[in-house]
Amino acid sequence: MKQVLFPGSFDPPTLGHLDIIFRASSLFDFVWVGVGINSEKKALFTQEERVALLKHLTTSLSNVKVVTFHGLLVDFVKENGIDAILKSFRSSEDLNHELSQAQMNRQLSGIETLYLVADEKYRFIRSSLVREIARHGKRLNPFVPSEIEETVFQRLSK
Ligand code: PNS
Repeated sequence: MKQVLFPGSFDPPTLGHLDIIFRASSLFDFVWVGVGINSEKKALFTQEERVALLKHLTTSLSNVKVVTFHGLLVDFVKENGIDAILKSFRSSEDLNHELSQAQMNRQLSGIETLYLVADEKYRFIRSSLVREIARHGKRLNPFVPSEIEETVFQRLSK
């Protein structure tokens, strides 16, 4: 059974993230969605809040499991017998950043990283922009899934 881990900050989850999760769910036997810690970013939602939002969004997908992970991504992948890391990129800027992470992770552990190209409808969506828009009181419907829009908006616009 082939299992992949789709890791990210998901601060908050967006329509782009959800699209990748649904596409991955139909491609792989089992998809772990891992809420990790990016040391370069200060998160607004706690890891537990992000897990709760993602679980709510993926209840219909029986082969998806949402988890938190701490420490190195490759250690979590190895400990859980996961076959590959799954990521996505929206632009050449993302790709440049992804190349070094994928190479670093492969060098550390032999684990491969696979990519799904972001759907063009969602290429402009970034969690950082979503947070900024909400801070200025704008609704988030075009950017985050409707099931969590109210929760995310209330939390970010405070
Ligand atoms: O959505 P993001 O912020 O691009 O997600 C980044 C994340 C959390 C996947 C990445 O920072 C990560 O894997 N962190 C765990 C620590 C780690 O393994 N760092 C080395 C990556 S080469």
